This record gives sequence, C-alpha cells and structure tokens, in this order.
Amino acid sequence: MIEFNHVYKSYDKNYILRDLNFNVNKGEFIFITGPSGAGKTTTLKMLIALEKPTHGAIKFMDTELQNIKPKDIPFLRRKIGFVFQDFKLLPNRTVFQNVALGLEVSGIFGDVIVKNVTEILKAVELFIKKDEYPQNLSGGEQQRVSIARALVQNPQVLLADEPTGNLDEDTSKIILDIIKSFNNKGTTVILATHNKNLIRMGRARTIDITKS
Ligand SMILES: Nc1ncnc2c1ncn2[C@@H]1O[C@H](COP(=O)(O)OP(=O)(O)OP(=O)(O)O)[C@@H](O)[C@H]1O
Ligand SMILES: [Mg+2]
Repeated sequence: MIEFNHVYKSYDKNYILRDLNFNVNKGEFIFITGPSGAGKTTTLKMLIALEKPTHGAIKFMDTELQNIKPKDIPFLRRKIGFVFQDFKLLPNRTVFQNVALGLEVSGIFGDVIVKNVTEILKAVELFIKKDEYPQNLSGGEQQRVSIARALVQNPQVLLADEPTGNLDEDTSKIILDIIKSFNNKGTTVILATHNKNLIRMGRARTIDITKS
C-alpha cells in the first residue's frame, strides 16, 4: 500500500533522511522510530504531500507522491487521517466542532456530521465532553479529540505522530488501545514515536529510520 524507495530528504544542504526504504501493507500497524530530529515527522509529512522527497520515490496506493500534482493533494488527504504531534485543536471550537471540522472540509454537513461525530466521540469515550473547549481538557483527552478528528472520515490510513507525547504510561496505553482497535477494524496505521515503552506495549513491526 505504501512504498518508500531510496528516499532522501534535506531541508538545506544536510540530509536528514538517507536511503530510506520500507513498505507498509494494507491493514498493517507499524511503528516508525528514531531519536528526536531523526526525521519521523518529516517522513509522515511526505505521506500527506506536505513535504516532497529530495530524491527517491514514495508510492501511496497508485500515486507516486514525488510527482503529485497540487490538484490531486486534497484527494490524497481524504484517504489519510493525521494526528499531529502538537494536536492542532482549534481553541475557540468545542470538542464536537473540532471533530466535525474533519468532515466539513470534505463537504459533508447536517445529519451525517451529527451521526459520525457522535459515533467517533463515543468510540474514544469523549462524548460526555462534546461541548467543552480544548483548554478545559487534559492532555490525554485532547489527544483523543485529535485522534477522533483524524478518524471521523473513516480514512484508509491513520498517521499518528507521537500521539502519546507528554502522557503518562497508563494514558498512553489507553491511546494505543484506541488506535489498535481501529487497526483491528481495517485501518492501516503508521505510528511515529521515540517512546520505547510504547513500542514494547504495541508489539508491532518497527522501522528505525536511522537504520533503514
Ligand atoms: N521546515 C523545516 N525547515 C528546515 N528544517 C526542518 C524543517 N522541518 C524539520 N526540519 C529539521 O529536520 C530534522 C528532522 O525533523 P523532524 O521533525 O522530522 O524530526 P522528528 O524525528 O520528528 O523529531 P521529534 O522526535 O523531536 O519530533 C530536524 O533537524 C529539524 O530541525
Ligand atoms: Mg516529530
């Protein structure tokens, strides 16, 4: 489903990623790991065409991302849910409205929004907080809103960038279990983290981008 072939990436003269090669199969759950600054976020950004590889090829389903045209990018992003490292929740919108935004950008409104947002908020056990604003939520709750927003469109692939960033071990396990439950229902998952405990708990194939 996803193929990195001899991918190199530099922002200036220095290469962050050198000859990165890996494949992800449909339905798989994989970890991408490496120390801070290794290029994990950059690797995920290339998958949603926020960055392009400097050399090499990245295939996502039938699309060669190194050649993607700007007009095709929204279509690509509709297939992918992205959980950002820093949440990126909108402070002046409620939990419900933040998650609904994931559907509104795809042109979905009305009853379908209410049904889908309700369903996903229940799945992450946050329906009770639907009318709260992000600043009134704990870190783990904000992270679950961010996961709900990424998953509400029922994407084929979920990219989760350090989704347990500053959370304690028990809360991290809850987040991991939620992501795994969606993987069990068919969503392909790529989870980027430097957290060795999380990787140990997750028991999944792990790609160290500094060694690939
Ligand atoms: N837009 C940019 N312009 C220039 N350099 C950048 C840019 N984005 C990232 N970098 C650099 O690329 C390197 C890799 O960054 P990246 O965010 O991918 O690392 P990471 O593995 O996700 O790290 P962390 O674990 O801290 O999140 C870093 O040295 C960073 O400073
Ligand atoms: Mg990062």
